[in-house]
Amino acid sequence: MFTQNHITNFSSIETPFYAYDIKLLRNTLKALINAASKDYHIHYALKANSNPLLLSEIKNAGLGADCVSGNEIKRAIENGFDAESVVFAGVGKSDKEIEYALSQNIFCFNVESIHELKVINELAIKNNKIAQVALRINPNVDAYTHKYITTGLEENKFGINPYEFEAVIDVIKILSHVKLIGLHFHIGSQIQDLTPYKNLCLRVNEINKWFLQKGFKLNHINLGGGLGINYKEPDTQAIVDFEAYFAIFKNFLEIRPSQEIHFELGRCIVAQCGSLISKVLYIKEGINTNFLILDAGMTELIRPALYQAYHKIENISKNNSEIEKIKYDVVGPICESSDCFGKAVYLPKTNRGDYIAIRSAGAYGEVMSSKYNLRDDVRSVVV
Ligand code: LLP
Repeated sequence: MFTQNHITNFSSIETPFYAYDIKLLRNTLKALINAASKDYHIHYALKANSNPLLLSEIKNAGLGADCVSGNEIKRAIENGFDAESVVFAGVGKSDKEIEYALSQNIFCFNVESIHELKVINELAIKNNKIAQVALRINPNVDAYTHKYITTGLEENKFGINPYEFEAVIDVIKILSHVKLIGLHFHIGSQIQDLTPYKNLCLRVNEINKWFLQKGFKLNHINLGGGLGINYKEPDTQAIVDFEAYFAIFKNFLEIRPSQEIHFELGRCIVAQCGSLISKVLYIKEGINTNFLILDAGMTELIRPALYQAYHKIENISKNNSEIEKIKYDVVGPICESSDCFGKAVYLPKTNRGDYIAIRSAGAYGEVMSSKYNLRDDVRSVVV
């Protein structure tokens, strides 16, 4: 949480910028490691935030890396992650990315189609490598989350569907440079109710058995990520209940003693430690509402415009416990009506130059920023 006390630190930094609370990140990592104990291997999903300031903390906590592009693999390795801890997912891996991943001897490719398997095999032959692969399975489990971040349904582009299993194993058997080591699942993101994870376990149990019956002893089961955070109340539950999350897998997943369980978590590790800090440029009094025009826009944080996502907004120049609040539409400077961070937000009476914190922005914030309208690259600081 950033308060009036931080404003002196902020005054030398040009807004808008991301401020990361490193102590909260450390505490979150501690809680995660304790809850996962030795039973589970956690790969941090770099797509949530690949800022080196955070990566060093995450790497030092002992997490592996989950990457979705050649550049993410490069970023992970440059920031000290072992290549043997890297898993590489994505429906559209390019030849260049596959060859780079092969050259780094990454731990595992999460393969999303039969066609991709064949291409990885060809490139592995060309580069004289053996590629370890896990099949990304589409389990057809509903994550009950925003439709843009649901990934485990038949209608989604991700993963291999059960009706393709026989064909996949026929292909695997004849590929010389691909070694099938496991199964991979990911049903979606920002999942707060844990029931979909129970349903995922039940599907994984069936699929795991099916592969064993076919003679495949797969020692690597990767259950993806997706654990959601509390955007409404970022301070009351700053660290998610990792114990409850892992308990679902302990209770419902039936695995063989040789099988290792892996996860790819992103948002729940980094979201709450980041706030987008912005200053009020103008206040425009409308008929039904007052507009608070910030110097940050959808170019710095696109989640509200793209997913109608809620982020708590605070005026940190003012005492937020002040009783009298005014209703504002909090908007950015970009030439799009969707450039709005929140409608009918109640804040203390706000002035030009006040600092506004947009909370829970550590995940899918800075990484999704753009240069639309020829904006500056967004800055970041660690507090
Ligand atoms: N593994 C795979 C295969 C994924 O596709 C994702 C996220 C993760 C792991 C990490 O999921 P997490 O633990 O962070 O939920 N931009 C959207 C979220 C997109 C998520 C994409 N995949 C947002 O701002 O909500």
